[in-house]
Amino acid sequence: MPPPVVQIGAGGIVVITSLAVHGYRSLRDVRVALAPLTVITGANGSGKSSLYRALRLLADVGQGRLIASLAAEGGLTSTLWAGPERISRAMRTGDVPVQGTARREPVSLRLGFAADDYGYALDLGLPIPSGSRFTHDPEIKVEQLWTGALPGRSNVFAERRGGVVRVRSQETGSWRTVFDRLARHDSMLALADPVDGLELLMLRERLRGWRFYDDLRTDAHAPCRHPGVGTFTPVLASDGADLGAAVQTILEIGDAAGLQAAVADAFPGSSVTVDDRFLLAMRQHGLLRPLSAPELSGGTLRYLLLAAALYSPRPPELMVLNEPEASLHRDLVAPLARLILAAGTRCQIVVVTHSAQLAAQLADAGAGLVGLEKDFGETQVQDDATAPWRWPTR
Ligand SMILES: Nc1ncnc2c1ncn2[C@@H]1O[C@H](COP(=O)(O)OP(=O)(O)OP(=O)(O)O)[C@@H](O)[C@H]1O
Ligand SMILES: [Mg+2]
Repeated sequence: MPPPVVQIGAGGIVVITSLAVHGYRSLRDVRVALAPLTVITGANGSGKSSLYRALRLLADVGQGRLIASLAAEGGLTSTLWAGPERISRAMRTGDVPVQGTARREPVSLRLGFAADDYGYALDLGLPIPSGSRFTHDPEIKVEQLWTGALPGRSNVFAERRGGVVRVRSQETGSWRTVFDRLARHDSMLALADPVDGLELLMLRERLRGWRFYDDLRTDAHAPCRHPGVGTFTPVLASDGADLGAAVQTILEIGDAAGLQAAVADAFPGSSVTVDDRFLLAMRQHGLLRPLSAPELSGGTLRYLLLAAALYSPRPPELMVLNEPEASLHRDLVAPLARLILAAGTRCQIVVVTHSAQLAAQLADAGAGLVGLEKDFGETQVQDDATAPWRWPTR
């Protein structure tokens, strides 16, 4: 089999083109097309956070944390789609109540994505009942890795079924079992077969690189309001704790002018510095001294945290922002959109937002818009934002 051809997306980025989720919370079966910059919007309860969390779960596979993360969410039984396997027409018209029928298919939570080069999917289920007290722990039933958009007979090159992992040789095209005792909760991406397993390792590293920001802290006790130990910080922590060090790193080795322009865009006449305690400080028009992080307002600090995240001198392959506009004044939404658009030239970005203004501004600049709606308890994706998809069979 020929080695996979990597098509580089706009700006030299490998783009994730689709995300698929089955059986997770309100996402009974969702296939979303992703663009280099994608905005996910929808009413309360439409499934935005569920989609965000599904992406996080995929990233967790790379960290070997998938089962633990699911357990932290209440376990497979609570995260599984709680509606019927199929919603019949009679249920929709109200002629019969929404009710479960005898399950025809096994319990299954599936996650997958396809990028310009590879696609990956996994299928989680419940173990065959035994005497163990861990019979409710989910296990990975199937995993597949393929080249191109959809998996098929000829392009799947790594597969896991139960504890057996097989990889297809790139030279001969023949399948070889590389491991037959994989623990049921471990992903095949945890294997590092030196001969044919390189792609597994590469994919794991890629998933590990995905970056999520949804809990940047700006409250009175937020860590970024306290002096820190300053070490070289090309990636802002997910709670923003190392803001001072991250900004100093950008000022020294990153796009310092871009960062300062983004600050001035939101706060005219202002710029950022970092004091000798590694606290961020902002020089503001009309003030005799810079104000340091403990003195800055929550909204101001939040914008600066987002700027530090988005101007990372080491951009990830994928950055996911959950409700970045939270607690920002309306006036800051336009600069925030420009900040995101500028970062969109360096990495792929997914933005989950409640703000119609932010969504509209990003969409006007060419972002893909994914509108979610809830229908009979189930998240539906607006037609123009769905992607083709094929799940591996058990
Ligand atoms: N196991 C489940 N099965 C079916 N639906 C579920 C399950 N768990 C949660 N839900 C529902 O899924 C819906 C989507 O939730 P989600 O948190 O993703 O919404 P959201 O779009 O982020 O909403 P908000 O704007 O309020 O944050 C909610 O209505 C929730 O009640
Ligand atoms: Mg939400």
